[in-house]
Amino acid sequence: MKADNKRNNNGIFLKLENIKKYFPVQKSLIDQIFAGKIDYVRAVDDVTIHIKRGEAFGLAGESGSGKTTIGRLAIGLETLTEGTVIFDGIDLGKLTAEELRKLRRRMQVIFQDPMASLNPRMSLGDAVMQGLKIHYPEKSAEHRDMVLTLFEKVGLTPPLFYYNKYPHQISGGQRQRIVIARALITRPDLVLADEPVAMADVSVRALLLDLMVQLKKEFDLTYLYITHDLATAKYICDRIGILYLGKLAEIGTVQEVYQHPMHPYTKALLAAVPVQDPKKRRTEPMPKGEIPNSINPPSGCRFHPRCPIAKKDCAKKEPILREILPGHIVACHYAETNL
Ligand SMILES: Nc1ncnc2c1ncn2[C@@H]1O[C@H](COP(=O)(O)OP(=O)(O)O)[C@@H](O)[C@H]1O
Ligand SMILES: [Mg+2]
Repeated sequence: MKADNKRNNNGIFLKLENIKKYFPVQKSLIDQIFAGKIDYVRAVDDVTIHIKRGEAFGLAGESGSGKTTIGRLAIGLETLTEGTVIFDGIDLGKLTAEELRKLRRRMQVIFQDPMASLNPRMSLGDAVMQGLKIHYPEKSAEHRDMVLTLFEKVGLTPPLFYYNKYPHQISGGQRQRIVIARALITRPDLVLADEPVAMADVSVRALLLDLMVQLKKEFDLTYLYITHDLATAKYICDRIGILYLGKLAEIGTVQEVYQHPMHPYTKALLAAVPVQDPKKRRTEPMPKGEIPNSINPPSGCRFHPRCPIAKKDCAKKEPILREILPGHIVACHYAETNL
């Protein structure tokens, strides 16, 4: 069955096809009556991403660009307004709630804030064991050992020391290791990591990223790695998609996109990445203007009001994604100027 799926999908493991998510804007009743129509936040506005088995795909963009919503749509935590999500050949939109619940074993999440995602009254051992109780009840005699083994693999040693501790008794970095263990205990195929190191101290960030790279190999994982920070994506991802106001601006291998960014927005994001060596510091602020909202996105190219190379037609004509170099896809009328 698995082998068939692989063949049918050309090795594509997670297929997001023209996905859209529009959230209705909450307005007062009076406003609704007078305006006569509902406004929508176009959080995700026609995004297509194909992720291969074993790949680490990064999704980057400023806050509010729709990253989390795409992640939630990808694992069926949010319903689609339009489009399809195919996970290992399975159309999530066609599943019943029960089927989706069962499939969750294979797609797990690591969220940004480990304190918020752990129950303060549950011991670390119990927190990680939950997934086993739900998905592998028949193996209850082995649960404890499985948890202890995984604690060791995520660097919580000696495992017994952590087993009966509570979230407030360990450091932030250790808590994130617990969250990673909790995600991996069900033996998932896909891990959605939504800003997994954003709250960690800089000193532990690299350690956590190292751990994620190592676990990916060991557990044969596919990653959807979400971040607003291009520096961490470079470390972990094979390919990256740059998102702006619900639309992809650029996709390509990390090497290509970082070395030859072609979308002015990608260039701006890269220029804003802090540089380690203070002598070489060339961090530049993001371009003028706040990120506009996605209720009324700018006409034409959504980035044009902030774009340093915008010309007249950019306000009129929406750029479509074009393959400028093999596998390097950009939505900018003037992408070639950066070749
Ligand atoms: N449940 C929701 N209801 C209404 N609007 C939402 C909801 N979730 C997200 N949004 C809006 O969708 C847009 C994208 O949000 P999000 O996916 O969280 O972006 P990011 O993760 O890139 O910061 C934002 O404008 C946000 O306010
Ligand atoms: Mg987010």
